[in-house]
Amino acid sequence: MKIAIIGLGYVGLPLARLFATKYAVIGFDINEKRVSELIKGIDTTLEVENEILQEVLLNFNPTNCNPEQCHPERACTEPSRSIEGFVEGKPITGLYCTTNLEAIKSCNYYIITVPTPVDKNNKPDLTPLVKSSETVGKVLKKGDIVIYESTVYPGATEEVCIPILEKASGLTFNKDFFAGYSPERINPGDKEHTVEKILKVTSGSNPETGVKVNSLYASVITAGTHLAPSIKVAEAAKVIENSQRDINIAFVNELAKIFNILDIDTSAVLEAAGTKWNFLPFKPGLVGGHCIGVDPYYLAQKAQEVGYHPEIILAGRRMNDSMGNYVASEVIKLFVKNDIPIKKATVLVLGITFKENCPDVRNTRVVDVIYNLKEYGTEVTVFDPWASPSEVQHEYNIQTVKNRPQQKFDGIVLTVAHNEFINIDFNKHLNKNGVIYDVKGVLDCEVQGKL
Ligand SMILES: NC(=O)c1ccc[n+]([C@@H]2O[C@H](COP(=O)([O-])OP(=O)(O)OC[C@H]3O[C@@H](n4cnc5c(N)ncnc54)[C@H](O)[C@@H]3O)[C@@H](O)[C@H]2O)c1
Repeated sequence: MKIAIIGLGYVGLPLARLFATKYAVIGFDINEKRVSELIKGIDTTLEVENEILQEVLLNFNPTNCNPEQCHPERACTEPSRSIEGFVEGKPITGLYCTTNLEAIKSCNYYIITVPTPVDKNNKPDLTPLVKSSETVGKVLKKGDIVIYESTVYPGATEEVCIPILEKASGLTFNKDFFAGYSPERINPGDKEHTVEKILKVTSGSNPETGVKVNSLYASVITAGTHLAPSIKVAEAAKVIENSQRDINIAFVNELAKIFNILDIDTSAVLEAAGTKWNFLPFKPGLVGGHCIGVDPYYLAQKAQEVGYHPEIILAGRRMNDSMGNYVASEVIKLFVKNDIPIKKATVLVLGITFKENCPDVRNTRVVDVIYNLKEYGTEVTVFDPWASPSEVQHEYNIQTVKNRPQQKFDGIVLTVAHNEFINIDFNKHLNKNGVIYDVKGVLDCEVQGKL
């Protein structure tokens, strides 16, 4: 059994590393920079510890890497293990990372973990899924199984991806090759719920393939598997998990807006209500990232395609997408209340990643707070010890700093609850009458506003 993982990002790399402890795995990605970092044993997403990655790497090449980040027993001296033997079919386990399509030709399982974003109009953008299906179609052989892990709407695998595989390979679906869908549930930055510890939903294009796909995952996922009756069921299950979270957060965001008008502390209300056994513990906040803020649009798109206009799903999205604007306007109201002139008021924004203790800035809604504050004429400094300044500059045209600024500000807005922020008394960084707004409700100092 030889597995190809197509797309070595937040989802693909941890999965490839896990399978590589038991199987021969080839990790394929079109991003040369990503692959060259991985070959050096470095995962910049911080999802797989460098040492753990290096333990499974077959083409580990630590040239020019930072010796402190290397596996201590190899420490840049051991010659890298090669792919040879691997191609010759020797039963070795491990991960070989490459951008070379030739290298995945001999695999018999292809697992696709590429991004599924939305475009600027919030319509599903299936380009990476289409392109990666074309790639796999070029190397597909009789008997192979292609498993999709990317989050999609129900029907995407069989209606969009399979015809591409058939066209590119000239093979017939469910006769020559087979498919599966097994959605990923990992949570970036979460070191407790790692891929093997999360129960995995599996499915296959026919009952026999379902069993094969299920036993492949069951062989490495210690938390167990759930074999769904069809690919569509597994696709729908994944997309509603995140849609459910989105709608629940939208509800508490609406509560926060109501209670702020009523001058009632939302977190105190949620704490009191939470004493009932079946009250769900959601908190208000900005909803960004690659999943919760995106996946509901996939479901909504499919519903609209079949003539149903989703009310609740899109209302939830509208509410959550409005929160950055809301936070900025609340901060401005506090400035007015404290007689701070808005134009050129200095604001320190704490955190720009989409969630705490994680470097992921994709689809972060903190940018809405920043853009809105800037529109009011304030001067914004963004401090995030986790985010890559060059990535943020490239993606959002926003400058960030990794070290805590020493000057004082008129306003401080905590947008992301990185551990580094929690115990700092930010009052020391405030000008007279300055305001602190705590979006996450985690600061241990006196604050003037929170969601
Ligand atoms: N990040 C999460 O926490 C998470 C959790 C569950 C599910 N998902 C879903 O998993 C999927 C992947 O997400 P991710 O966060 O790993 O994305 P990512 O952007 O971190 O990684 C995707 C990788 O795929 C590569 N890629 C893009 N097109 C390719 C192609 N044609 N051929 C080969 N490689 C290609 C990219 O270079 C990148 O390295 C998405 O559908 C996402 O919704 C993500």
